[in-house]
Amino acid sequence: MFVIAQLSDLHVNGTHHNRARIEAAFGYINSRADGIDALLVTGDLTDHASPDEMLEARKLITSPLPTLITIGNHDARPSFNTVFRPEVEPTSPVNEALTIGDVTLLSVDSSLPGERRGFLDDETLAWLDAQLATAADRVVIAFHHPPVTLGMPMMDSIMQSSPERLGAVVDAHPKIVALVCGHAHSGAVTTFRGRPLCLAPGVSSTLNLPFEGSGVINRGQPAGVAFHLIDDDGRVITHFRAIPD
Ligand SMILES: [Fe+2]
Ligand SMILES: [Fe+2]
Repeated sequence: MFVIAQLSDLHVNGTHHNRARIEAAFGYINSRADGIDALLVTGDLTDHASPDEMLEARKLITSPLPTLITIGNHDARPSFNTVFRPEVEPTSPVNEALTIGDVTLLSVDSSLPGERRGFLDDETLAWLDAQLATAADRVVIAFHHPPVTLGMPMMDSIMQSSPERLGAVVDAHPKIVALVCGHAHSGAVTTFRGRPLCLAPGVSSTLNLPFEGSGVINRGQPAGVAFHLIDDDGRVITHFRAIPD
């Protein structure tokens, strides 16, 4: 069994509230690292993409696990790359690959500079295609913006635009066993082009469904983590855990 931990929507912003939740989430995962193969962090690392926030995110995102990080609409390529990947051009999309045994993780940048909605640009799609050509037999693709609506009107209005671009990639590659993302601050499971699509809960907050409350944020919900298990047949089982403050 291959085990992937996923955290999303850390929203580092200098507050004790978010910092404490992030530390608790990493503590929960890191203290169980012996049973976990890899960690995915799927964007909105910071609230405002400032250098100070990104430096704090760099300190908080600490794990003995092989880790792939991508960015969300609250982040920005220049501040992320300056802090996390100083060797690349500051405006480069944040696309990274990791192969462990017969599983390849592909983490792609769905951020669209200056906008809240998402989009996979031509450079990122070309990178994804090239990676898939040499990937292991089982592939999980991670990004920030869901490519489908979720029954959350506000978040649905800023989902991944032109999802058929990702759909064409998924259709062409049966080895993709699951797609994982964040952005909605809501642990959720659905499908995309017939493959599992799993959203990690938000670490910093949970957003209300329309019938849960009139406010945007559901303040009664704790931080959460998703664990994606890939069994020997390539079937993906996702478990969610709440992490009390
Ligand atoms: Fe977020
Ligand atoms: Fe987001």
